[in-house]
Amino acid sequence: MIGNYKTKPYTALRFEEDEMISRSKSFFELMNQRRSVREFSSKEIPTEIIQSILLTANSAPSGANKQPWFFCVVSNPEIKKQIRIAAEEEEYKAYHGGMPEEWLEDLSYLGTDWKKEFLEIAPALIVVFRKPYDEENGLRKKNYYVQESVGLACGMLLAAIHNAGLVSLTHTPSPMNFLQEILKRPENEKAFLLIPIGYPADNVEVPDIQRKSLDQFTSWYR
Ligand SMILES: Cc1cc2nc3c(=O)[nH]c(=O)nc-3n(C[C@H](O)[C@H](O)[C@H](O)COP(=O)(O)O)c2cc1C
Repeated sequence: MIGNYKTKPYTALRFEEDEMISRSKSFFELMNQRRSVREFSSKEIPTEIIQSILLTANSAPSGANKQPWFFCVVSNPEIKKQIRIAAEEEEYKAYHGGMPEEWLEDLSYLGTDWKKEFLEIAPALIVVFRKPYDEENGLRKKNYYVQESVGLACGMLLAAIHNAGLVSLTHTPSPMNFLQEILKRPENEKAFLLIPIGYPADNVEVPDIQRKSLDQFTSWYR
């Protein structure tokens, strides 16, 4: 035995094969319906939903179980406004010379620009921070595979948001340091994603995009 190794019994989910097939298909259908939405209704979301989607995110695997993430939920209108102003400032620069031509070209199918009204309209913004290290009693404790771990937690967060019947946008104003400042987060928390969540605006539309087919993005070595 090494260190603090301790176990407890684990009961995995068990289904008949037919049920496994049908569950895997219906989960795909559920997830395949998820889309990033850029127009929100201002309708409030029940606190309980926000709490359980955050708990789902926190159940993600992480390097050495460090759970190197922190989630801020912003529903305060004044703070949302500050975030919108700062994000639009960065986005304005990005869309006016900051982003290379190729990047702008790659984004053109989205029809997006520097304006981000949704940051004020959406009832809540989830600001995700990654933590390269933790601080305990003034000592720095390193975290491992931070990007991978926080990316996985965010994937599970987006799945939970969708499963609850809400919509979200994965937003990355760049650079995002203003989030650490506005939310007064400590030095070891670096902004990772800005995710407005809520109900979609009436008659919302999304870009008509295609997903790759199975043979375009997979190879089997049998
Ligand atoms: C890491 C990451 C960053 C993104 N940043 C932005 C963003 O800043 N603004 C935006 O409108 N969409 C952003 N998106 C959303 C993508 O445009 C969207 O996921 C993609 O077009 C596929 O559409 P779908 O999410 O509806 O399937 C981002 C997505 C990811 C994964």
